[in-house]
Formats: sequence, C-alpha cells, structure tokens
Amino acid sequence: MASNSNNSKTRLPIQEPAWWKEIFCYQIYPSSFKDSNGDGVGDLKGITAKVDYLKDLGVDMIWLCPLYKSPMVDMGYDISDYREIHAPFGTMQDWEELVAALKARGMKLIHDLVVNHTSDQHQWFQESKSSKDSPYRDYYIWRPGKTDTSGRRIPPNNWRSIWGNGSAWEYDETTDEYYLHLFSPQQPDLNFTSPALMEEIKDMMRFWLNKGISGFRLDAINFVSKPMDFPDAPIQDPSSEYQPAFSLFNHGPKIHEILQELQRDVLSKYDAFTVGEAAFTSPEQAVSYVRQDREDKEMQMIFHTEHVDLYGGFEEGPQEARDYVKLANVISKWQTYMLNHDSWQSVFLSNHDQPRPINNILQAKISQREEAAKLLCLFLCTQAGTLYCYQGEEVGMVNVPEDWPLEEYKDLVSQDYFRERQKELQAKTGEAHPDMTEVRKAINRKARDNARTPMPWDSSPKAGFTTGTPWMRVNEDNQVCNVADQQGKKDSILTFWKETVQLRKSTPTLIYGQFELNLDERYPTIISYTRELDDKRYLFIANFGGEAVAVNASTYGATPESTLVHHTLGSNEPGEGELVAYEARLYRL
Ligand code: GLC
Repeated sequence: MASNSNNSKTRLPIQEPAWWKEIFCYQIYPSSFKDSNGDGVGDLKGITAKVDYLKDLGVDMIWLCPLYKSPMVDMGYDISDYREIHAPFGTMQDWEELVAALKARGMKLIHDLVVNHTSDQHQWFQESKSSKDSPYRDYYIWRPGKTDTSGRRIPPNNWRSIWGNGSAWEYDETTDEYYLHLFSPQQPDLNFTSPALMEEIKDMMRFWLNKGISGFRLDAINFVSKPMDFPDAPIQDPSSEYQPAFSLFNHGPKIHEILQELQRDVLSKYDAFTVGEAAFTSPEQAVSYVRQDREDKEMQMIFHTEHVDLYGGFEEGPQEARDYVKLANVISKWQTYMLNHDSWQSVFLSNHDQPRPINNILQAKISQREEAAKLLCLFLCTQAGTLYCYQGEEVGMVNVPEDWPLEEYKDLVSQDYFRERQKELQAKTGEAHPDMTEVRKAINRKARDNARTPMPWDSSPKAGFTTGTPWMRVNEDNQVCNVADQQGKKDSILTFWKETVQLRKSTPTLIYGQFELNLDERYPTIISYTRELDDKRYLFIANFGGEAVAVNASTYGATPESTLVHHTLGSNEPGEGELVAYEARLYRL
C-alpha cells in the first residue's frame, strides 16, 4: 500500500502503514453520552447500549474521558481513586461489560490518563498533606513560602495557575507549606521526580492495560516535568502579582525521560496506543515525542491545539471574521512537517474543551448547519493522521443558545472567569452590579460547556439522554438536530459522516498521502489542497465562508478528466463556476 515506490518522480518518505494510523476514534464524555438509570448522569451501561450505533458509524476505537472516582470539580479530571469507577457511571462489572461489547464488535477502548495532578481528595494527597514526614509527602510538590518586604507570607514563586489570575501555589496550614497546582487548587500536581510515585503510576497503567484497554490519551502530558528549583517566571504582565510560567513547565526538563520510562517499562510491553494532549506545542517539539524511526519514541501522536487556538479565548467585544488563510497555513504547516519527519499526528476539530466548531471555526448561521457540518467532516477526513470525532459532532451539534443564564454553565472555568471579571469590573467602575453583557457573550462563545450538553438522541425534551433530570441542561437545539431524525436519512449529516469515514478508510491516499496546500489570494475563504500517494492524487476544495464565491475548481487544479468523488451538497449537483457557502468537494485528479 503506502510504499516508497521507485517512481521516477522524487518523493518524500512515505509513512509505514499501521492499524492505529487508519482507525477512526470516537471520544465519549461519559456524563453526557447516555444515561441508563434515570439519575440524569450518563453512565457505562448507557455507552454499552450505544455500541452498535458507534459500530455503524464506522468507529474502531473509543476514547473515554475520565470515568474514575472523582469529586468532579473538573468533571473527572480530578481523580480521587485511579482504580475505581465513579459511582454514578456504574460499576467495574458495567465497565467489563462495555469492554466485552466492544471486543465482540472488534472495537478498542482507550482511557484518559490524568497524571499531571490528582484530586485533593485522593488518599495520596490526604496523606501527603498530613505531615512533612509522610511517605507520600513527595508524591506532590511542597515548598515553604517566602516573605515579602512588608513581612507578608507569599508563595514560593510568582507562577500563575493556568486558569484564572491566582497563584499556582496553595498554602496549607497543617505543615505551613504551599503545594503546586497548575490547574485548580483542588488539583494538586504530582511530583514525577519521586521514584515511588513513578512506580505507582506505572502500576496503575498496568492495572488498566491488564484489564483490556488498548492504550491512553495522556492528559496535559507536556506539563508533567517542572524545573524543581522553581525559578520565578519572566514578568509578562506587570499589573499582576502572578505570571504565566509556560516557558518553564511546558516540555519541562525531564519530560522525555519520564515518557521514555513509561514507554519502556509499561506501554511497550502491551504495544499500547498513545496520544498525548499537548497544547502550546510546535511541530518541532511534537516530532521530539513521536518520530517513528527513534528507538526511544515516546508516544504515537499528540493532540496539538494550534489550529483550534487560532480564534482566541474569552475575548470580549466585537468578534473579528475568521481568517481562513491563517487556518489553512497552520493545517498545512503541521501536515507537511509531520509527514516529512516520519511523524504521525491526530486529526480533530472538536473535543470536550472546545466550543462547537460550526460556531467557533466557521461562525455559521444555524440555517447553514448542514453545509457547515459536512464541510468540517470532509476537511477532517481528507487530512493525514488518525481521525477523531467528538460526540455530537457527527450530527452537527452547535453551541448553547446565547440566552442561557450563567447557572446553566457547569464548568468551573466558565464560572471562575465570570467571577473574576465581575470583581475586576466592580473595581474599575465602582458599581456593585457592573454590566456583564459582554462577559456573558464571551462565555457563551467560548465555554467548554458548549461541548458538554447531553447527546441529542432524539427530539424529546430530555433528548432521549435520560428519563430523569439531566445533570446539565439539554441544548434545545435537539428539537431540530438529533440522531433519531438523521439516522438512515439519505442526505443527513450523520449519513454524510458514515459515508465519508468509509471513503477515507478505503482510500490510503487520504490517510498517508503527501499534502500540498493550494491557496489563491483572490479567494481568501477557499481552502484547497492535494493529497498524493504513488500515482493517486486527490484534490480537496472548500468554501469556508458563509457567502458563495465565484470560482472554478479548475483554478485549484481540477480538470475535465477529474472525477468528483464526494461533495457536501447532497442530492444537488455542484454548479459550475461557484462554490456556495460552506460547499466542499473532493476530486480524484
Ligand atoms: C486537560 C483536559 C481538560 C482538563 C485539564 C486539567 O486539558 O482536557 O478537560 O480540565 O486537562 O486536567
């Protein structure tokens, strides 16, 4: 299949084929997927009940977001016991039944491995904080505070936590020291320089691998190694006491050693699948983890976030129109760099931390949902890398409505952001109730909650998700966008996903082929590229804008001999001389 042929044309190295490059992986957010017992929270039995749905979609592997015991401060990314199932999700037996159901259909399962931090309710942390002499003390990162010039106790350094404006250190009275938490104070960071902790992590990984999972998605993995002398971060924001410290802990000093040890002692023994979450990563850094010709490679691929980070965070005020030339260049940079450096990548636009891409990336009107969702699907399915879909993406789910009150947003990040901005605006305006309209709008656009509403199985008030009271409000959009309505319907988004996934799986060029971007500055909303393997070439062309563009596919290399393999217009044939809003096509050249 994907060989480096003797063809006379000079070719760049071609990727070695592997099963994990060709699969379609579906991400499940357990709380919101399917509730089987009416308590309003999704659960394992609910997932098992939908395994056939996933099989039919073409899914080969499921990535389950954390399902371990947790106080749920950060929806399971704060684990209090790595070996127990969070009770509302079910029991270990339910988990085993899910694995059996997947196995019976030839499907695999990976877990989230959250080891940058635990919950502060984890027994290790409870022990660790109890005394400086506890054998668990150095499982976490404790340091004495400092005193400032006015005699005030201050944290060990000026690091700001990743969320909000506060310190990354929390004072604990019991032993009169601070512990590090890059995320919330309820998520203390683990200390990977402790050999005992390292062994615990390896054992825990073996525990799940022995129970039958195929690998892990490694949460926030680029943050696990810190410079243990904890220098102050450079001042970037002179108005603030605390400073972003990414330059110090992102890809920290021992990160490669840690990952190599996990690979050598655990993962390689199981031939396990690994994908690391690594925001703030360049292609060069990515390659340092995943390059395949290295004996000591550390992961199979990472999730970088450069393309989804393009459109900012909780920015307030008027929104700029999206710049698709920028998007095209970021995609092209990663596609070509990884393919040309014997490195593999993951292909995704959506996950539990991102607003829905129909809104965030395309800014599409709701009336344009169908075209927009299909464009994004074809865009994903024609890129090199392992393909991921996040629950609801396959039916075209969108952000929550603008008029939802703040209480409906459950994510601590949304709630904290609102509180902090309120305090800032109170201080600035001197008003007890400053105008929060723009803050609310920013939260609506960017909140992670947008991705976390219950899965719309049908159009009923509870969306077929639960018979009880859903833990999070159902996005009323389910009345027009749901699985039941789309299943089996010829031109639905869901059917388009099924067809396109099958097309990708049966077309090695779309998985392995070289990538070449094709931009024309006259048409800034058109993204086009070719994929080429051996003697096969495909052309992707799409209008990412909400208005029609007068352009011929021939401008981007289609010829009268080219075959239109797939397109997003459903039963309507694409017209000559224009690409309507959000139209995407795939040609065989
Ligand atoms: C990762 C997860 C995110 C979580 C954070 C802290 O970024 O994807 O949901 O909040 O890590 O664990």
